[in-house]
Amino acid sequence: MKRRVTKAIFPVAGLGTRFLPATKSVPKEIMTLVDRPLIQYAIDEARAAGIKEFIFVTSRGKGALEDYFDTAPELENALRKKGKSALLKELKNTNMESGAIAYIRQHRALGLGHAVWCARRLIANEPFAVILTDDVIAAETSCLQQMTEAYAETGGCMVAAMEVPQDKVSSYGVLDIKDDMGAMVSVAGMVEKPDKDKAPSNLAVIGRYILTPHVLQNLSRIKQGSGGEIQLTDAIAEEIKCGRDVFGFRFRGQRFDCGSKAGFLQATVAFGLARDDLRDEFSTYLTEMVALQKAAQ
Ligand code: UTP
Repeated sequence: MKRRVTKAIFPVAGLGTRFLPATKSVPKEIMTLVDRPLIQYAIDEARAAGIKEFIFVTSRGKGALEDYFDTAPELENALRKKGKSALLKELKNTNMESGAIAYIRQHRALGLGHAVWCARRLIANEPFAVILTDDVIAAETSCLQQMTEAYAETGGCMVAAMEVPQDKVSSYGVLDIKDDMGAMVSVAGMVEKPDKDKAPSNLAVIGRYILTPHVLQNLSRIKQGSGGEIQLTDAIAEEIKCGRDVFGFRFRGQRFDCGSKAGFLQATVAFGLARDDLRDEFSTYLTEMVALQKAAQ
């Protein structure tokens, strides 16, 4: 039986404190990589993976995010009159079919696990994806598509995973590997933000998940974990304790942590250099900047 995933949750209710003061009035997900907000990269990835229903878990002050997916008739008319068809096409890409998008409020930022749990009634009894917009992944085949294809064969729960340096493990959920099958690993346990000398491996969980409705039931029971938040990792780890399969998936692609300043800047350089219309001018500028820096040292 082929298992399909058509619903995705986008938890966007975090406070985004690492980008203050910008995030005082601009949702982090609207911050722009080259000329597109982070959320657009996440939506494109989900669409490429066959997602049809997009569920946003939002909070106070995220109005700009909801507006972003609306039609903009005045803007569209102005572009049409000026014959700017390429820009019109870009705009169309931001529109969502009526009924394809839903917004749920998380009234208090009690953690990622709690944010996912807030969407439980819209998920009902189906497998679903979770996409964290902070993690932008450049890949030939979208990361979530790679995962949905693998999931069609395996079922269970699946988390995107990548090796990180040992001194960085305490920033991630980390996998205890039962069986390493190459791209896929079966998971014996998961720990959220372990001390670096207590981490079971350096295979870290990245912000893409395919989960079963059991995880939502686990979340209903879970108390606040690491950092006083309700951790999604704990609810997935609960699946293993119940004897159900959890897999880590080593995706093909480059992940940028756009939730951190350094990661955001790195992504800006990488995505800028990947653009045909910017590459020459931008790379000349970067080369000059590096030479100036070296000369100044
Ligand atoms: P982060 O750990 O990056 O937290 O959340 P944050 O609030 O966004 O940012 P900082 O650390 O304060 O700078 C990871 C993802 O989980 C969502 C965030 O929106 C982000 O997509 N999240 C987190 C929620 O939706 N609700 C929460 O209570 C916590």
